[in-house]
Amino acid sequence: MSKQKVTGLILAAGKGTRMKSDLPKCLHKVCGVPMAKLVADSLIAAGVDEVVILVGHGGESLIQALGHGYKYAWQHEQLGTGHAVQCALAELGPLDGTVMIVCGDTPLISTQYFQDFLKVHQDSERVCSLAVAELPDATGYGRVVVFSGEAKRIIEQKDASPEEKQIGHANAGMYCVEGDELSEALKTLKSDNAQSEYYLTDIVGYFDSTGRSVNAFISNDPAIMMGVNNRKQLAEANAILKKLTNDRHMLNGVTIVDPGNTYIGPFVEIDTDSIIEPGTHLIGRTTIGKNSTIGPNTRLTDVSVGDNCFVFFSHADSAVIGSNVKIGPFANIRPKSLLGDGVRIGNFVEINRSHLHDGAKANHLTYIGDAEIGHETNIGAGTITCNFDGFKKYRTEIGSDAFIGSNSTLVAPVKIGNGAIVAAGSVITNDVLPNDGAFGRARQENKSGWAARWREIKGNG
Ligand code: UD1
Ligand code: MG
Repeated sequence: MSKQKVTGLILAAGKGTRMKSDLPKCLHKVCGVPMAKLVADSLIAAGVDEVVILVGHGGESLIQALGHGYKYAWQHEQLGTGHAVQCALAELGPLDGTVMIVCGDTPLISTQYFQDFLKVHQDSERVCSLAVAELPDATGYGRVVVFSGEAKRIIEQKDASPEEKQIGHANAGMYCVEGDELSEALKTLKSDNAQSEYYLTDIVGYFDSTGRSVNAFISNDPAIMMGVNNRKQLAEANAILKKLTNDRHMLNGVTIVDPGNTYIGPFVEIDTDSIIEPGTHLIGRTTIGKNSTIGPNTRLTDVSVGDNCFVFFSHADSAVIGSNVKIGPFANIRPKSLLGDGVRIGNFVEINRSHLHDGAKANHLTYIGDAEIGHETNIGAGTITCNFDGFKKYRTEIGSDAFIGSNSTLVAPVKIGNGAIVAAGSVITNDVLPNDGAFGRARQENKSGWAARWREIKGNG
């Protein structure tokens, strides 16, 4: 069969009443990622040509959170999953090729599963295929009447008779349908059911009764089909995805000391022989090189860490960290920071929008903001770059092999040359030339015998 266009359509317009939330359901996060984004990125990784996310309730906040990497369509009034697809087609026009319809609240479906399902559908040359999970207890899901590998019809929980409720085949809410036939099927939907909604599920019965039998793609791993409708299921989905992700990393050669207490997002990459200590959260597009130890109690969001690093009891966000870097305890590396190889960042140090070149050190109690620090430069304890005058931010530039004495205040904009030394306790307001010494502090005066005289005066008083 020649390859034809595949559109992934994600239904994410529902309010999610059972979540009891102001947030639209599909924006709730599983392992740190909104459910709709997990589904969308899995579909993209599976190779669909285009992803369309159908939004409605809280649509603006969903689009804002998910960004412009996807196409969106609107369902302004939520009249059911069938109506949702009708709205998508009304906005986008009829869709060519295969439409893969997925619910935005089934966050565990993997890329592999999407690929397998699509292949089975394409090979079957049917008009429609349905993803089915065989469950010991399918309560809550639509029940699928399956007969010799074909899906005959779907009955929703609220419409099911006591006998139908015994059916263990659950509708995973996922369909592959040929676009032209989908438009026809949607025209036949009616809302004469317990919820007075236009159910997408009814297309299965329509196709079957009009002589186009529907392929039932029955899963041997039903946990991944889980639909999240309330906060309890949200926590369950989180636990399942967390375990799947941690298991994958461990089998790839990463040591996770306490997997139950380690939170790794689905898009994180970790190279072999790295160790993840307990209480660690690796979020977003974080990548960790080889042989690095992260944690305990560390949170990295969209951070790239090189090889042989040690990052413990610290936070970092949107930063790039080289190899052989040591960070912590209690460091805060803020966005747009770049730390070269061999950099050392110690306790209570904050780095913000700054570039520390290879071998630079800031070991204690320091704020470095809007700065460039040359290689092998040492920043003494308590150094502060004063980058903000209450109105604008200014830069501090320090060359290589420089030495900034403890408790120095560098008032930006200011430049300190290569090899310069700033005396401890200085307030630096003027540029310092290379290899110069800068003394920006009050001159000390010692008064002979003054302390003894002072005690005498005070003691007699
Ligand atoms: C649906 C299926 C059910 C299946 C289950 C799988 C129907 C009628 N029922 O039930 O057979 O077992 O999913 O998880 O399809 N949505 C819209 N617009 C709407 C209504 C819903 O976009 O008007 C979206 C929701 O945001 C959600 C998805 O469609 O992402 C499913 O809706 P939900 O209300 O959760 O349906 P279920 O009751 O779970
Ligand atoms: Mg649901």
